[in-house]
Amino acid sequence: MSGIEFLGTGSYVPEFVADNEKFAQIVETSDEWIFQRTGIKQRHISTDKPNYYMGAQAAKRAVENAGISAQDVELIIVSTCTPDFFYPAMSCLIQKKIGAKNAACFDVNSACTGFITCLDIAQKYLETEKYKNVLIVSTEKLSSQVDYTDRASCILFGDAAGAVLLGKSDKRFNSFLGAEGDEFEALYCKANYQSNCPWFGDIDEFYGHRFDTPAKQNFLMQDGKAVYKFAVNAMADAVRHVAKQGGFDVSELDLVIPHQANLRIIEKATELLGIPSDKVYTNIEHMGNVSSACIPVALNELFTAGRIHAGMKICFVGFGAGLTYGAAVIEV
Ligand code: UT7
Repeated sequence: MSGIEFLGTGSYVPEFVADNEKFAQIVETSDEWIFQRTGIKQRHISTDKPNYYMGAQAAKRAVENAGISAQDVELIIVSTCTPDFFYPAMSCLIQKKIGAKNAACFDVNSACTGFITCLDIAQKYLETEKYKNVLIVSTEKLSSQVDYTDRASCILFGDAAGAVLLGKSDKRFNSFLGAEGDEFEALYCKANYQSNCPWFGDIDEFYGHRFDTPAKQNFLMQDGKAVYKFAVNAMADAVRHVAKQGGFDVSELDLVIPHQANLRIIEKATELLGIPSDKVYTNIEHMGNVSSACIPVALNELFTAGRIHAGMKICFVGFGAGLTYGAAVIEV
């Protein structure tokens, strides 16, 4: 028994909507440019709640949806690249908020690939005798890192959380994870410590000042073109890998839920794979890019709409800072 199954899903999407018109008021851009280049019309922003709150709401809904008590959750794995604290792990804050006091907790950061990384890890726990369920929470508050004076990046991102409670299954599960650390400078958010240590040297000199951001803020920095180029091939490669590993053809997939970074990236990658657009789910138009939360939020939308049926082969595929990439296929 090496598969996994979805026992429950949940999500939290903040109320505040920042549509393209709002961005046209703060940077030189237009609804037309944003929609044509990215497929985004709006994103949600958590104006008054921390990241862990969003994660806890999504987690609570997933656990309720599964019909178990929070006290029966055995392990919580959180993926986030926008934590509220350097430590403790966000999973500990979420554990407290939902009352999952018997769960072990840790966090994972592989940026936007986080949910797929968590699936890969969770399956390995569920393969053992010791764990019967694992709660994955992908929660992201990009608004705390985005530079809202940079029109090339600020228009892409939003805030949201998605969660799934997983159990054991004897159905198919395959996953593949990859990384290109050589490319890490294409997308990063440097930790700019405000140390008052009297012996704290200028660490930026070590890097040759290449990572300076305005006023040393913790801003997301990206080379959009480099990420775009990487993403198209990485997504296609990841799906080919996972299909080869599982011994099936890409054409056998019933549904693909990709990371929602840019509609053009999704279209190009799936075109390379020969996957028709009616098998590809996107919600980027109303959500924007919510990093590792993209896939579980989309999955919850599909479950809620009654569009997931027994026997379907669903593929998750993504990429992100690292640069990381990966794919997973689950038979429901
Ligand atoms: O989870 C992963 C996170 N990151 C990504 O996925 C990023 C992947 N990359 C992308 O999605 C795209 O590269 C962007 C959306 C960031 C940019 O789109 P693009 O088609 O690659 O545009 P570009 O960088 O080639 O820029 C074309 C022009 C430039 O002007 P000039 O130099 O031609 O005069 C930009 O300054 O568009 C300009 N531009 C904008 N214009 C209006 C860049 N951003 C904007 C904007 N509004 N928001």
